[in-house]
This record gives sequence, structure tokens and C-alpha cells, in this order.
Amino acid sequence: MTHEPSPRRQAAWDALEAHFAELAPRHLRELFAEDPGRGRRLRAEAEGLYLDYSKNRITDETIRLLMILAHESGLAERRDRMFRGEHINVSEDRAVLHVALRMPQGASLVVDGVDVVREVHKVLDQMSAFANQVRSGQWKGYTGKAIKNVVNVGIGGSDLGPVMAYEALRHYSRRDLTFRFVSNVDATDFVEAVRDLEAEETLFIISSKTFATLETITNAQSARAWLIERLGDPAAVARHFVAVSTSAERVSAFGIDTANMFGFWDWVGGRYSLDSAIGLSTMIAVGPERFSELLAGFHAMDEHFRTAPFERNLPVLMGMLAVWNRDLLGCQTVGVMPYDQYLKRLPAYLQQLTMESNGKHVSLDGTVVARETGPIYWGEPGTNGQHSFYQLIHQGTTIVPLDLIAFAKSLNPLGEHHDILTSNVFAQAQALAFGKTEEEVRGDGAPEHEVPHRVMEGNRPTNVLMGEMLTPRMLGSIIALYEHSVFTQGTIWGVDSFDQWGVELGKVLAAQIIPELVALDEPELHHDSSTNALIEQYRRLKGKEDA
Ligand code: F6P
Repeated sequence: MTHEPSPRRQAAWDALEAHFAELAPRHLRELFAEDPGRGRRLRAEAEGLYLDYSKNRITDETIRLLMILAHESGLAERRDRMFRGEHINVSEDRAVLHVALRMPQGASLVVDGVDVVREVHKVLDQMSAFANQVRSGQWKGYTGKAIKNVVNVGIGGSDLGPVMAYEALRHYSRRDLTFRFVSNVDATDFVEAVRDLEAEETLFIISSKTFATLETITNAQSARAWLIERLGDPAAVARHFVAVSTSAERVSAFGIDTANMFGFWDWVGGRYSLDSAIGLSTMIAVGPERFSELLAGFHAMDEHFRTAPFERNLPVLMGMLAVWNRDLLGCQTVGVMPYDQYLKRLPAYLQQLTMESNGKHVSLDGTVVARETGPIYWGEPGTNGQHSFYQLIHQGTTIVPLDLIAFAKSLNPLGEHHDILTSNVFAQAQALAFGKTEEEVRGDGAPEHEVPHRVMEGNRPTNVLMGEMLTPRMLGSIIALYEHSVFTQGTIWGVDSFDQWGVELGKVLAAQIIPELVALDEPELHHDSSTNALIEQYRRLKGKEDA
């Protein structure tokens, strides 16, 4: 079964395909040469973010046709349904309301008879009070000492948001507090995270929407055992463990007092939860005021997405360009390269946001999608990547569109570092777009045998996203921009960007295999022959006497 789009939507796709056939042979060199105003026209600005999209393989006509596709796909209607709290996550029959998490105090959004904004602010107040107690030293550990170390235990959205935001906002963080993030069920993650910490000064935040995720619960149990072993009393748990979850029942079954629980709701997806109570570690690091600025940045971008005309709407433009690059140019991957060391975990965060949201082959109505959907996102901070994998981006046989992220001011101004850094952003976008022709290479006096190797094809798309400086507000706006770009893409592809059924099967199979690895006696194995052989080999190696 394949997905049958409406005739108008199909017409919008047909028009785009016909347009692409005409545009495909054109090079960005020609497009820039014949249109000197291009760089100043194909750009948009909102909430302190400047987007230069002129180095995509597009014309004004492309944008016009993409906007028609957006309209015909019902983007505005679906966006409004999200903001109204309708159940647009159809496969789980849930509202999708991360936008409510950053609505200002006094705003109101009533969903199923409950004002969710009021609920959100109750939790924010509880978080602020707790964060202030920890930051001021008022919150005492079991032996009466103040907290110096905060360890967030979570995985996926319950880890990537906190760790990304902590790293991004480290400049604004309390330097006398140590923050660690434990996610992997590989014990090394936990052991290395706590090896130099004093238990009596350590607070664990167990972050899990479901409070049922095997990795997190395993790490949380090890953390509890670690603490009790050092402090000698299970009663110590109450002063050293807090939980962030939607499930009071499971939190309490784990042994954490629900008075020390920070709640959120099933209408917040894990990968959209950084600005819920999942952001508790961020709030402790930067303080409630800075956390409010972060939320204000998110909200400002939400409002821009909700109200700006599509052709000036940053998330719509970025989302539709991503669709263009994926479905017309056929690009399978997108590189996100933040030229800011503080954003080093942003690519990992965006991987979950984009790929868990739009890595789907089934549409909302259960039929198979008609187009290629979510591309593979990946990235590294610049300029490091330039000295490793950019070779392929410049001269490889695969086209990788890049999002290059830059700021005009450094948080650590030092000599000419920042101008050198930023010159590379502009230079990479230039080199990727315009490349270097055979003539130019010869003109440089290259020996003949080197000429083909030195030719740079160019015509490779980039977006440059630039802000003044990385602040909490700016970070919020950047994340919301990507969230809504993902929403835009998902709407065009007709997928449910808010479920993640694809992660379930592996969890079920692992649960079956665990007892077979743990068993003292040889278990009877009934898997496929490869899995059986792997388990047998693992058990053999595991049981071998150390040399
Ligand atoms: O397995 C994937 C996933 O469900 C993600 O969507 C989620 O962010 C992560 O696991 C962690 O889930 P939880 O917060 O419930 O522990």
C-alpha cells in the first residue's frame, strides 16, 4: 500500500519535479553570476538568527513552489492543531505540546479541561525552589554537607537535552558545582562519572519519562548501591536522589520520595523535553533566571513559527529546504557543523530530534510513504571537521548539505581566534558552492598531473545560520527552530514525527537475550543460527580463565 496524496498536493510535487528537472543542470556559480542580489535576497532573519539560504541549489521559483507544497500539505492547519493541543500524535493518540512548556506565566492553554500552562509553571516554581536550595547550599546531603556534584542519569531525550544544554551554557554555569551525565548501560559510563566524587556531596537526578527504561533504571540502581555503600544507610537516598518523570508510581516503587519528584506529562516527547523538568540539571547549573531566558528564546521562536508568513518563516524555510534537498536532490544525509565549541553536543542532540522524529516509512494513515523521508543527521564542531571528513563533502561522490552555525561574538574573546574561526564558516560555504574550475586550477600554476585532483566541483548546498552570541535565549531559539523545521518536514512527508515505534523491537529482543547471557547453566537457544553462535561465543569468552 502506498500513500496517495491529495490531487492538489500531488500537483505541487509535480510542479517541483518539473522545476527541478530544469534547474538541476544549473551551477550555483551561474545562479550567483546572473543574479547579483541573490545573497541579499535569499536570506531571512528572526529572533536574532540570520539564515543565509542563498547557497542552496534553488531560485526564487523553487521557494515559491516549496511554499505551495507547504500550503497544500496543510502545514498551517497542522501547526495550529499542535498549538491548540489536539492529538496530532495519532499513533499514540496524544497531544504534542512542548510549546506549552515555554509559554509565559499568565498565558493559558486549556487541554481536556486542564490549563496546562498553569501546571507547567507549578513545576517550574518547584524546580526553581529546589535549584536555588542546591545552588545556595541550603539543600544538605545526609551528613549535613552541601551538594557539590550533580549527576544526571538518563538516556535519549532524558540525557541528550541535559548534556547538550549544560555544555552549551557552561559559560553561564556555576563553576564550583560539578555536573556529570550518565546514560550508557555500559558500567564504564557510571564508574568513570563518579570515581572522583564524594557521595556525601553528590546529588543524583534520575531522569526518565517512563521510569521504565532499562539503561536508566540499571544505572539508577547502581547509583543507589554506590551511595548506600559509602554513606552506610539506605535513609541517605532521600537526600541524594530526586526524580524527573511522568510516573509517580514507578518513582515511588524505586524508592524515591515523590516529594522529591519533578513531574511532566505524556504530551511532552522525550526528544522535546529539555525545557520540561528534564532540564533540572540545566537549571541548577545556570540558575532559574537564565533557565527562564532559555525558555523565552524557545517561546519567541514558537511565536515566529506560529505567526510569520511562510516565505519569511525560518523553521518553514529550513524545513522546506530540507525536503528539497532530500526529495529532489536526493541527499541522504545532512551535516550540522556548529562553529562554536560550546555546541559540541548539538549534533548528537539533533540526531535524536530529527531521526527519531522523521525516520519513518509509514504515514499518519498507516500507508507506506510516497517519498524519501528523514535524512541522516550528523556533525562535529568546526573547524575540527575540516581536518577530517570535509574532504568527502568537498570532493566525494555524495552530496552532503551542511548547516553551518556561527556567532558574531565569542564568549571567550582571545586574540584573533574568533575571526579566524568565523572566516572558516564563510570560506567553507564559499568553497562548497563555487568550487574551483580546471581553468582556475591551471591559472594557479598547478602541474598538469595535479589538475584533476585539485578541481573542486562546487554546487554543494549550505545554510549559514548566524547569531550575535551564544546566550541561553539564543540556544532556546536555535533548538525551537530545529524542532519546528522537523515538524515542517514531517508534515510534508505525512509521518507522525512524535512516535518512535522503531526502537521497541530491539528492547524486546534484548530482554529475551539477557537471561541467556546471565544463566549459569548452558541455556537452550532458539534464535537464528547467527544469534545463537554469537551468544555461545560470548559465553565461552566470558567464562575463560584470565590469562
Ligand atoms: O528508546 C527511545 C526512547 O524512548 C526515547 O524516545 C527517549 O528519549 C528515551 O528512550 C528515554 O526514555 P525515558 O525518558 O522514558 O527513560
